[in-house]
Amino acid sequence: MTPAKWNIDAVRAQFPALSLSVNGQPAAFFDGPGGTQVPNRVLEAVSTYLTRQNANRHGQFHTSAETDRIIDKSRHQLATLLNAHRDEIAFGANMTTLNFALAHALARDLEAGDEVIVTDLDHEANRAPWFMLKEKGVIVRRVPVDLATCTLDMTAFSNQLSDRTRIIAVTAASNAVGTIPDLSEIRQRTPKAILVVDGVHYAPHEVSDMRKWDCDFFLCSAYKFFGPHIGILYGKRNAFEALQTDRVRAQQPTIPHRIETGTLNHEGIAGAGAAVSFMMDPEGEHLDRPPEGGRERLVGQIRRMKAYEHGLMKDLLDGLDAIPGLKPLGAPDSENRTPTVSFTMEGCPAPQVARQLAERGIFVWDGDFYATTLIEQLGLSESGVVRVGLAPYNTQDEVMRLLDALERCQ
Ligand SMILES: Cc1ncc(COP(=O)(O)O)c(C=O)c1O
Repeated sequence: MTPAKWNIDAVRAQFPALSLSVNGQPAAFFDGPGGTQVPNRVLEAVSTYLTRQNANRHGQFHTSAETDRIIDKSRHQLATLLNAHRDEIAFGANMTTLNFALAHALARDLEAGDEVIVTDLDHEANRAPWFMLKEKGVIVRRVPVDLATCTLDMTAFSNQLSDRTRIIAVTAASNAVGTIPDLSEIRQRTPKAILVVDGVHYAPHEVSDMRKWDCDFFLCSAYKFFGPHIGILYGKRNAFEALQTDRVRAQQPTIPHRIETGTLNHEGIAGAGAAVSFMMDPEGEHLDRPPEGGRERLVGQIRRMKAYEHGLMKDLLDGLDAIPGLKPLGAPDSENRTPTVSFTMEGCPAPQVARQLAERGIFVWDGDFYATTLIEQLGLSESGVVRVGLAPYNTQDEVMRLLDALERCQ
């Protein structure tokens, strides 16, 4: 059965930010990989929490009980998103902070001479915490990127493995060039190592599946998938239970609480759960009640969203190809990448391109997006690259406006 056509007007109607205009032009948000816009469902969840449910946890009174209920419900929704159990979902400030806490905790079980593998495709947030372990005498090995295709060099990856490999830290998708490494293949080659996956750029675009990948830890950020600014850590039960975290005496030692230090961002958690509801019901057909259908419905909707985004990406890539002096980066194959396209333009440095687009109400990022090593190795650190990220609320008209504006850049 062919999936129903993406009802772009119904999707857009849920995002108040899309009505913004700049210099008399409607804003076109291509900055999704830096943070997506937020639908009404999420705004309402945050606002309802702060107006009617706001309290600290585990009290004997109404708002405290409500807070416990909301946090539990959001854990359940995030577990649905990741195909996990509710007690495998922890919340934190953001992905970077959670990953430092994770690395710090895992370090307690490592000895000098143990080895950790990181990749040159990854965001700094999944590199710096592991390089920190060098202080303990841990050896950090790097997997290089094939710069022509911006894919991981899997032969080099295999060559880095040894009987001392304890941790593999790898991204599920590059936030700079969209590449999606083959996590199942990585898991197959390293059945015994602890697999830590950065899912920040992957989760908004693809079906995340903890059971399928059999990873030990997976991190993502709700603000990249239509939610507020909070981070989420999945820990596979046995790996999470073995984790020796820093915590205060009063903190529950059970999972997932053992890594959740201090008071959490309750309104952010409420919003993160609502972001999952949005992904289950992106066209807003069930705004009066939580969408039913669980994981199956969610997977179906993410696939529809992906089909829509990839349709736009095809138009974008075709249009970029026709602009003289414009050089897109990354894999030509559109299946194994997210709809995030970075490029350079001869004679027009990235900040200048981004500024000229901004004047026309078109928002794109320029720089290295903390994928610092990749951009360095591509020899593009000095002025960076331009990044266009497609989201399910972008339109074909916006893509055409963008292409037209790029042709005028000078
Ligand atoms: C791929 C990737 N990993 C990690 C991060 C860091 O996430 P956070 O801002 O939640 O710390 C980002 C943020 O841009 C990202 O794109």
